[in-house]
Amino acid sequence: MDGNAGGLILLDALKRSSSIETGISTSEVAAAVMTGAVVIVKGAVEPDQLRKLRCELVRANIPYREPDFHDAESWRSRREDCVDGEPLNLLENTFLAVERTEDELGRAARSTAERLATYWRSLTGCEHAFVPRADRRALRPWAMYYPKGGGCFGWHSHKLEPTRIGIILSMSERGGDFRCGGTEVKTPFGIVDVTPHHDIGDVCLFRYDLQHRVAPVEPDRELRWDGTGRWTFLIQCDPRPIDSAAAR
Ligand SMILES: [Fe+2]
Repeated sequence: MDGNAGGLILLDALKRSSSIETGISTSEVAAAVMTGAVVIVKGAVEPDQLRKLRCELVRANIPYREPDFHDAESWRSRREDCVDGEPLNLLENTFLAVERTEDELGRAARSTAERLATYWRSLTGCEHAFVPRADRRALRPWAMYYPKGGGCFGWHSHKLEPTRIGIILSMSERGGDFRCGGTEVKTPFGIVDVTPHHDIGDVCLFRYDLQHRVAPVEPDRELRWDGTGRWTFLIQCDPRPIDSAAAR
């Protein structure tokens, strides 16, 4: 493992593997993440696949909704929260209905979502899938968009369970699609700025209850929601209590 005392570990994905694998076992990777280190797996997903998906996301121009657990089709919501005149959250999150064959965007995102889900299951030992099973908990895939001109997501954390290990795939090229702004994590080893290492196709893993944020993307520019800026893809385990999900 290529590690450092700052709590960041860089690994290369094995090139000839059909799934995401590295030279060390997933149990070792998961153990490192659970100690609070951030792990980056370089080259986990083909960049061209992600550029294509990003184009689909911009082109689809799908409807906005109030955030909810509506999973019947892909939808998105925009967040523009300010504190004392300063942007706290400036982003769009798109839910991708990957299990709905009639949903064009869901179909386009499916293979990427499945690749991440397979890796997440091997890391956590959980069996959750995009279609909920007996316990009604589901994985939910999201595309996150941070526009140039200050796109950001303020410091926050989540409950450790049921997601346990957060997984963020970069869909944008550093230096090409955006110059600055990316994920930072408060680890037991100090704040880890993932941005310099998290290029298109790379996966970032972190313990889900650690504070994290997305620092402003090119804040010196004029804000434009035109698809330029930084895109990521992530999966999250449905946080609803099992009872309320079952009542759906
Ligand atoms: Fe988060």
